[in-house]
Amino acid sequence: MKIAVFSTKSYDQEYFEKYNDAHQNNFSFYETALNSDTAKLTAGSDVVCVFVNDVVNKATIEVIAANGVKLIALRCAGYNNVDLEAAKSKGIKVARVPAYSPEAVAEHALALILTLNRKTHKAYNRVREGNFSLKNLIGFNLHKKTVGVIGTGQIGATFCKIIKGFGCNIIAYDIAENQELLELGVTYGSLEEVFKQSDILSLHCPLNKHTKHIVNKTSIAVMKEGVMIINTSRGALINTADAIEGLITKKIGYLGIDVYEQEENLFFEDLSEHIIQDEQILRLLSFPNVLITSHQAYFTKEAMDQITITTLENIKAFKDNTELINEVK
Ligand code: NAI
Repeated sequence: MKIAVFSTKSYDQEYFEKYNDAHQNNFSFYETALNSDTAKLTAGSDVVCVFVNDVVNKATIEVIAANGVKLIALRCAGYNNVDLEAAKSKGIKVARVPAYSPEAVAEHALALILTLNRKTHKAYNRVREGNFSLKNLIGFNLHKKTVGVIGTGQIGATFCKIIKGFGCNIIAYDIAENQELLELGVTYGSLEEVFKQSDILSLHCPLNKHTKHIVNKTSIAVMKEGVMIINTSRGALINTADAIEGLITKKIGYLGIDVYEQEENLFFEDLSEHIIQDEQILRLLSFPNVLITSHQAYFTKEAMDQITITTLENIKAFKDNTELINEVK
């Protein structure tokens, strides 16, 4: 198969090459993201392989379809960046990696919570400069706090099990309840109950028209004073302007995000020598109680192995015309 891989970083290429012996695919690796302008690079390719910030909209799909592409192989779980209707209308199949390592993302959510709470990032810098003061480093016990979880699929459920180990009470909201979690003592409530009761709120639902800006001015208003909000799912689950307002008024006590609404222009790149034009990220970076990581929650060795193996299996199933079990319809 001839595969055009977009948004390639050195580690993506390394992992594809590690597992390609059994497949003998012919890869073209492109650093650029896929969009309607770069779609011309797919000429002669059977498959495009894309990641979270590639723009696979109608305009892109028209170009790749004309170039003969028959499969969009996502090397991620979320597929909010793909116009599924447009792909279907052009006879292009879409496959994803539904679960590669829920532990990777759930553990990163925990890392954001612990760092924001116990301020280890600040302590690290202080101590290295000979500042052994504890001033302003005070945290709180997670034990007996109420953690709200929105979306209890693979990642949300794994997160619930981890945080349960800290002795937290868990209240969850999902459109479908998870029986295993109910047995673990997780209670389900309405979205409003979750917003109202949570000391810490962690988002693990997909981004779609129902969940876009699920954290907004109205939902923030009902939350506890000083709530901690963690988002490792998709940036647009949070209305950034409303979150900034919540931070200014101190309604939001802590914000930990691995994803950001406008991340496609920033994340995964070294912009340290550039003048960043995005006013909202600059404002977020100015708060002492905001922690931002650039979509690295998935980034563990185990997850990279599984992403690569599943992506190559998806492509093989498509090539062999066998059941494409990870097809997104
Ligand atoms: P999943 O499909 O296993 O679980 C999603 C859960 O959300 C399901 O239980 C579903 O019923 C629920 N849900 C759907 N619509 C909802 C709604 N309107 N309100 C509340 N819950 C709703 O997906 P998984 O693997 O747990 O991943 C969750 C999300 O995490 C992905 O959609 C993706 O956006 C994000 N993600 C982020 C990564 C990162 O590196 N930061 C890596 C992998 C995934």
